[in-house]
Amino acid sequence: MPLESYITHECDVLVIGAGGAGMRAAIAAAEAGCRTIVVTKSLLGKAHTVMAEGGIAAGLGNVDSDDGWEVHFADTMLGGQLLNNWRMVEIYAHEVIDRVYELERWGGLFDRTEDGRIMQRAFGAHSWKRLAHVGDRTGLELIRTCQDKLVHTERTETFMEYTLTRLLKNGDRVVGAMGYRRNDGKFVVIKAGATVLASGGWGRMYRYTSNSWEGTGDGAAMAYDAGADLIDMEFVQFHPTGMVWPPGARGILVTEAVRGEGGLLFNSEHQRFMLEYDPVKKELSSRDVVARSIYKEVKAGRGSPHGGAFLDITHRGADYILKKLPSMYEQFHALASVDITREAMEVGPTIHYTMGGVRVEAETAATTVPGLFAAGEAAGGLHGANRLGGNSLGDILVFGRRAGVAAAEFARTRGVDRAIDEGEVAEEQDRLYDPLDSRHGWTDRENPYHLHEELQAAMQDDAGIGRTAESLQRALAAILELRERSSRMRVVGHRDLNPGWHTCRDVAFMLTISEAIVRSAIRREESRGSQWRFDFLEQDTEQGKVNYVSRRAGDGMAIDAAPLQAMPEELVKLLPRSRFYDPAKLPKGHIKPENMPAAAAALGSTS
Ligand code: FUM
Repeated sequence: MPLESYITHECDVLVIGAGGAGMRAAIAAAEAGCRTIVVTKSLLGKAHTVMAEGGIAAGLGNVDSDDGWEVHFADTMLGGQLLNNWRMVEIYAHEVIDRVYELERWGGLFDRTEDGRIMQRAFGAHSWKRLAHVGDRTGLELIRTCQDKLVHTERTETFMEYTLTRLLKNGDRVVGAMGYRRNDGKFVVIKAGATVLASGGWGRMYRYTSNSWEGTGDGAAMAYDAGADLIDMEFVQFHPTGMVWPPGARGILVTEAVRGEGGLLFNSEHQRFMLEYDPVKKELSSRDVVARSIYKEVKAGRGSPHGGAFLDITHRGADYILKKLPSMYEQFHALASVDITREAMEVGPTIHYTMGGVRVEAETAATTVPGLFAAGEAAGGLHGANRLGGNSLGDILVFGRRAGVAAAEFARTRGVDRAIDEGEVAEEQDRLYDPLDSRHGWTDRENPYHLHEELQAAMQDDAGIGRTAESLQRALAAILELRERSSRMRVVGHRDLNPGWHTCRDVAFMLTISEAIVRSAIRREESRGSQWRFDFLEQDTEQGKVNYVSRRAGDGMAIDAAPLQAMPEELVKLLPRSRFYDPAKLPKGHIKPENMPAAAAALGSTS
């Protein structure tokens, strides 16, 4: 029997997370006729989505008419070093065009071309000007528009400040979730025909991150606990440009749109170092390359005073900067007393995004557990080893919608399974109560905030931008020790608005996700995309043929190699459409190199 009574809600589709993916999924599920509940541990309108500032990548061809879904497909695959799920990329590159126009119909504002079409800007490793944008506030506009649509969509209900901690199962199937209300700590059970995870990523286990407090990997950790596969967990994105000064602002995002609008990177010797690291794409190289380049300059003693590089946009003039980058102007003015129309910014890599996530089926976003779907940053597969900027706002719209449609279909055919296992509820209540339990002694107790800090130190220092087997083993040992100590986390007070108590769950989730990141990074003995192994600097052909999958195995975690599906010939032939396609520099892996130049020749041109 449960230890305590709980509040019960019931719906056809439960959506966990209210960022762009969650709201888009909920709109789709409700439009398909399903009673839909959206749960956010934060507030509606506040999500990491707003941190994708620079735009939505879509091959509209409004500014560069040579663009289209095919080039977008090729750029995304090459950016992901061909580890992407190619079918997801194909769906994505096609459908994101419709999703952008849909957002416009729903009232989304965009900057405009002279003739009134949606304006598009350049971004790293995109062949053409492709990012539909609203100044440097595109994520915010997406959230605003979807929120407006959601609250006007029948059959939807949103619960704010609810933390869900466990997916509930009946046999193999997920039948809902449970957790607590943050304001009063009351336990909640939500019964659902199908559940969509749209809970975002997990930057908070690193010390310097653009993620706000919500980014603790709850959804992916709950999915893992429920038996779902996680994929590509070793790939964690360092956005090249976060603030590095002052200390309280370190890690806050400096949008790639600064470089998209012509911003240049310099070292302390006023050398434009990207000319050397990537003479073709320069400042608009992919994020993994630019982040590494800044790191190398700092290590070589050519960093800025606070350990970054200089990003200078002053040559575009004050009027232009204020029009296209108003948030950056305000951010630097308010936080660093820097006027970016007159002075360079100091920037350095910050954890921004996680390419890995819950493994999903491309068409439906179904996970490997029946009744459970995942979309957006919580899901893996679309971005491979490195995500191109702007591909996340598109991802959440395309796969948020698909997850909502498929979850609705599942709920309709299977119905709501009301048979909640009370034993499971009791077990979770017991686990949640544990840190508050006054029967525990107060000696030998652990403070959740200290454990969080220690985890951040281990991940930042030993599983960060550059890794070795030795550093990763150190990180793993730290995680396992922290996990053991986490069983003794204790907090004072009760369950009403108790941040210490909330942190206990966050720490537990982050430990699971950190272990998956580190174990997968140990297995991938090569450098590819965001995985930079100092002890394996090259790409390895054999490892280019597999994704690594993390899954539960008894009491431990297993990492298995999953062979990539062969890409159909017609898609292989599209790769040379990328302006950055270079047969000599093709990612090593599952596509036979001898086929690639042939594909290029078939199209007649590689540039
Ligand atoms: O830099 C940015 O504006 C971030 C965009 C993104 O992550 O897609």
